[in-house]
Amino acid sequence: MDVTGFKTLDDMDLEGKVVLTRVDINVPVADGRVSDTTRIDRIVPTIREIVAKGGKPVLLAHFGRPKGKPVPEMSLRVTLPALEAALGTTVRFAADCIGAEAEAAVGALGEGEVLLLENTRFHAGEERNDPAFAAALAKLGDVYCNDAFSAAHRAHASTEGLARLLPACAGRQMQAELEALDRALARPEHPVVAIVGGAKISTKLALLENLVRKVDTLVIGGAMANTFLAAQGHGVGTSLVERDLLDTARTVLMKADEAGCAILLPEDIGIAEKLEPGAVRKDVLATECPDDRMILDIGPRTVARIAAALHEVKTLLWNGPLGAFEVPPFDTGTVTAARRAAALAKAGALVAVAGGGDTVAALERAGVVDDFTYVSTAGGAFLEWLEGRTLPGVAALETGGSPN
Ligand code: 3PG
Repeated sequence: MDVTGFKTLDDMDLEGKVVLTRVDINVPVADGRVSDTTRIDRIVPTIREIVAKGGKPVLLAHFGRPKGKPVPEMSLRVTLPALEAALGTTVRFAADCIGAEAEAAVGALGEGEVLLLENTRFHAGEERNDPAFAAALAKLGDVYCNDAFSAAHRAHASTEGLARLLPACAGRQMQAELEALDRALARPEHPVVAIVGGAKISTKLALLENLVRKVDTLVIGGAMANTFLAAQGHGVGTSLVERDLLDTARTVLMKADEAGCAILLPEDIGIAEKLEPGAVRKDVLATECPDDRMILDIGPRTVARIAAALHEVKTLLWNGPLGAFEVPPFDTGTVTAARRAAALAKAGALVAVAGGGDTVAALERAGVVDDFTYVSTAGGAFLEWLEGRTLPGVAALETGGSPN
């Protein structure tokens, strides 16, 4: 993907303009409070820059999956204190994202102020990408700024349709995501290693097939590696395994071979009777898993091989944990490999980009999020991008947008 194919805030005249800014503040909430502000913190630079350029940011966002009607528990109101704390300013709120109430709130917005509109998914037109709903949103502003890479895999009115109705640009967060992904996969410095973990091949098949064509070495860990080990004829005891995908796993290995991509599967494994904190862990060769034990992590030899591979490459792309990292001592493989990658990235020897689902939590456990070159806040969008798919929200920024 050509990351120069869309406009950024640098290209826009925002003086006196209402900037409809699509953000992703679909954040975790516990006891009525935002429990992880990462996504909120990441949109601060864009909002501040819009204000600094004389624009009025009006934030559009979804929250949860209310299925086209108002659901009080999915109101974006809950994010206001965290947004205000992150921005250091008052954030006004309108209880609808279109219509008279939204229009009045936009009209009343003063210089330097920020307005958050209620959950776009309270309207069925959002997910349907209904032109009338997109037009009702467009009516509220002069410019569209999309800063929600993590929602860009959805062709919704606020992520796709709107980009075709107003002068459009990417926000700084969207830009940072695309630039990092470009460096990691579209135009990386070779050799490239990808580390892919997680529970299931079934959810990552397209991703694996795309990666074997693009990277020089693919490390496979997590429970999905069990299916590969079983496909190679090894016993995997009571481990999580997708028996119906053994042929699929073999096909991935064959495609990797054809593409010249080296596959690194666990050479040794951390096993236990059960997955529970403090369970007695034993490390054995991957060919020697007893019938009554389950594989819960990669072993130290495999970690050493990954570390050696990391020393030989210029770029690392990481998605998914290498073991059951939430439950010590089965976090060792993920944490040790992540720390090695982070040290190399920090020393400037490696471009290390990570993202998707559990990956951020795994890197947080290793305490290395800040040392990676870039850690994406996206889940599904990151995976679809790794699959080589076009993200509608990004494509619309590249091809859409009326002249500023
Ligand atoms: C996410 O949390 O990954 C994004 O906000 C997208 O949410 P969705 O999967 O409900 O579209």
